[in-house]
Amino acid sequence: MRMYDIIMKKRNGGELTEQEIQFFIEGYTKGEIPDYQVSALMMAIYFQKMTETETAALTMAMAHSGDMLDLSEIQGCKVDKHSTGGVGDKTSLALTPMVAACGIPVAKMSGRGLGHTGGTIDKLESFAGFNVALSREKFIENVNKIGIAIMGQTADLAPADKKLYALRDVTATVDNMSLIASSIMSKKLAAGADAIVLDVKTGSGAFMKTQEDAEALAQEMVKIGNHAGRKTIAVVSDMDQPLGFTVGNALEVKEAIDTLKGQGPADFTALCLELGSQMLVAGGAARDAVIAKTMLQQVIADGSALDKLAQFVGAQGGNPDWVYHTEQLPMAEHIVDVLAPVEGYVQKITCDEVGICSLMLGGGRETKESEIDLSVGLVLKKKVGDYVQKGDTLAQLHINDLSRQDAVTKRLLKAYIIGEAQPKSSQLIKCIIS
Ligand code: URA
Repeated sequence: MRMYDIIMKKRNGGELTEQEIQFFIEGYTKGEIPDYQVSALMMAIYFQKMTETETAALTMAMAHSGDMLDLSEIQGCKVDKHSTGGVGDKTSLALTPMVAACGIPVAKMSGRGLGHTGGTIDKLESFAGFNVALSREKFIENVNKIGIAIMGQTADLAPADKKLYALRDVTATVDNMSLIASSIMSKKLAAGADAIVLDVKTGSGAFMKTQEDAEALAQEMVKIGNHAGRKTIAVVSDMDQPLGFTVGNALEVKEAIDTLKGQGPADFTALCLELGSQMLVAGGAARDAVIAKTMLQQVIADGSALDKLAQFVGAQGGNPDWVYHTEQLPMAEHIVDVLAPVEGYVQKITCDEVGICSLMLGGGRETKESEIDLSVGLVLKKKVGDYVQKGDTLAQLHINDLSRQDAVTKRLLKAYIIGEAQPKSSQLIKCIIS
């Protein structure tokens, strides 16, 4: 078999066989097939798409490209959660301690930022000393002891996805349904959870821009998960504007902490409650979503979810005091206001553009090797539906390198669409697929 023939077959619209998919995944994982050939194949898949059969084969090949984690030493039903990626999506930071405080063990592998979206692992590194590379033994010990551990994808877990993820990030081949479904589900299957709750984003900040595409992605992932014997539920949620007010690593950590104190933005809090209740029901901690939501609200009100976050940060090498004193988190040198150029309603905020603004400030990666600046980002002061006067602050840039200010400001102002007509409010939770 030759990689060249596989690329050509897909470029010409053919359907790859299971053997061909296994060949390229195995060869790429072992370093026998170079990045440039896999980039070409990714681009061919991007344009020609994959069938359901190809996507399932790609998922299984990637899941089995490394270790399949055995979490049976952790007591209870392990429920994992994964987002397809969004802007200002700090959900795992608040949600996982909430769920753990309700008694569901959280043993989670998370990713780094991808394209214009952020990643939980980068955000957690805002706590100086936080260790995202736990050994399997330490990972399991922490979950059994305090109910929660989150780590980066290890070299042995779905290594094919790890390489492909980084390659797709810099070759404009992220937003393809089959590549996203196989990427997410390969990791989730290899990571060993009993049940999986997926947050599938739709809108201008999501990889799936339309609700129809997001629902199709959700259906595909639920099918793959259930077929592999894992109870899988997908919540399709709005990502047509950033979630909450903050975009950027440490800024999002702070907002997640505010949410655990009961002072979070309404949209973000509502999403955490929805996903959390699905996790509690899937894990058998609550009979239905209504009871589950009450349990989650209780652990926010009594402070146990916040304490759980502090325990978790401490157990992985960070300073738990930072959870209670967020002024210790990395902070940018300058805060610069971006002002409304006209009066009117904020009708739309082109969400991926806000993600790109954060990336331009240094909060995301331009190349596979880029170092990110955890302190920078944006705080939105106005969101869709707000009325602004000319000169009102739309958003604040948290910035270190002032030479980037003009370009980011220009781009952000283009992302804010302001007009006379009041926009219709959009629904946060679009549908639930199980
Ligand atoms: N999240 C992933 O893990 N993979 C993707 O391809 C997109 C989002």
